[in-house]
Amino acid sequence: MMRPMKLAGSELMFGDGCLEYIKSVPCERAMIVIGGSSVEKNGTLATVEGYFHEAGAETTVFRGVEPDPHFSTVRRGADAMLEWQPDLICALGGGSVMDAAKTMWVIYEHPELDSLEKILATKPLPKLRAKARFMCIPSTSGTASEVSRSVVISDDETGHKHGIGDMEMMPDIAIVDPQVARTMPAHVTAETGMDALTHAVEALVSNRANYVADVLAEAAALDIVKWLPRAYDDGDDMEAREMMANASMVAGLAFTNVSLGIVHSMAQTIGGFFPVAHGRLCAILMPYVIDWNSADARAKAVYDALAAKVDATDFATVVRDLNRRVGIPTLAEAIPDKDAYFANLQQMAEISLADGCTKTNPIIPTVPQFAELLEKAYLG
Ligand SMILES: [Fe+2]
Repeated sequence: MMRPMKLAGSELMFGDGCLEYIKSVPCERAMIVIGGSSVEKNGTLATVEGYFHEAGAETTVFRGVEPDPHFSTVRRGADAMLEWQPDLICALGGGSVMDAAKTMWVIYEHPELDSLEKILATKPLPKLRAKARFMCIPSTSGTASEVSRSVVISDDETGHKHGIGDMEMMPDIAIVDPQVARTMPAHVTAETGMDALTHAVEALVSNRANYVADVLAEAAALDIVKWLPRAYDDGDDMEAREMMANASMVAGLAFTNVSLGIVHSMAQTIGGFFPVAHGRLCAILMPYVIDWNSADARAKAVYDALAAKVDATDFATVVRDLNRRVGIPTLAEAIPDKDAYFANLQQMAEISLADGCTKTNPIIPTVPQFAELLEKAYLG
């Protein structure tokens, strides 16, 4: 049976200059969560704080969310929230910052959920928003955490990445202003853009796909193929930046409702063993998964229809060409330690099968078939 669709939280703002919307948000005490120093250096943090202050709100900043955030960082952020008592949490950054802040919010609202094990075991999550509403301002165009119900958090001890999905974690307010993404480095533009393309393509072939999600995901996929090279070549091309910000968000509206597939299962798994950016892994794996899924007639029809709309015959080739065009390396280049990769292959195959994204893939591989895919993706 179809599941109910939810297209973002209560307020979805997008387009050049929409950051100013902050001034209209009722708030007394905002806690702004950031990652590294780039949003400070490029002036975005000061602009965001300025808008809050103009609206009469006090602000404080929690700094230092690392890429692929660990639960210990979430715990520290939650402690800072419990002390500051914000009525609005504002995640300003990429997917890691938004995911970590969402999880901090869960603990802030329910301090008894004080470990990753407890949060993972609590399904569904209890109601949030008794203490604070949640705002996302993405600084990259790819993860779509600003419109998604899910997060990925790493276990401090094992390093493994755990995906948590729950409608309660859908941000209330998403402010998707391409100006915030303007200073994103070219390689991050490429990686996050390819992550967004993967979201769109996996949503289209998901075995939970539906009409509304298809409309969104197809538009996003076609726009990303068209606009990513321009955004990659020239970060100041604001038309391309805006198209990528919007397409990423729209792909997110789709996938958060119909889920993903085994590109994500394997990317999340490999990323738990080797420090390679999520979008980079998705980009590398996608053509191999398109070939694998093409044994399914419905998936093949989806890929062929996408290829036809970009004047090509094979969508896996479209992705391979796009990867080359935007500087995505091979898996062997991304993970030079071949022995370590193959030593972990069997375990990675097992974890990929257990990943939550696997169950919505058109054809579910066995463990040996996952191992074969992981091997093929490495050997090229
Ligand atoms: Fe992703």
